[in-house]
Amino acid sequence: MLDQTHERTSDAAANADSCLLEMQVQIAGGTVRKIDAAAGFNAMELMRAAGLPVKADCGGAGVCATCHCRVPDEWAARLPAPADEEQEKLDEIPSADDRSRLSCQILMTDDLDGLMLDLQPDSLHLHLCDAAE
Ligand code: FES
Repeated sequence: MLDQTHERTSDAAANADSCLLEMQVQIAGGTVRKIDAAAGFNAMELMRAAGLPVKADCGGAGVCATCHCRVPDEWAARLPAPADEEQEKLDEIPSADDRSRLSCQILMTDDLDGLMLDLQPDSLHLHLCDAAE
């Protein structure tokens, strides 16, 4: 019985290791932080879990546009195109451009290991920015 428990624990640890991915987050065009990521979580959740000061006022529902990031061209081509609802929110952001995305709508997958995002100034809790340095 003990051996079976140990075996399951070892399998879970191996699965956790294989799921560990990485993201690179540039903070408003400045400092770049490498953070842990895992498939199945969205980029906003992962940044917040790493202590980055993302506003994300709606908690990831896709309705506030306060998780605005830009994705470099080499990574943008690997993401699914924004859904109509996401594009409508992006259109409401004055500073948005073709590289803009809502980070809560970017679902991390194994294929996105190393994903780079630039978290935009309009989506930062400025009083928490020192914590991100
Ligand atoms: S957290 Fe509100 S739109 Fe992304």
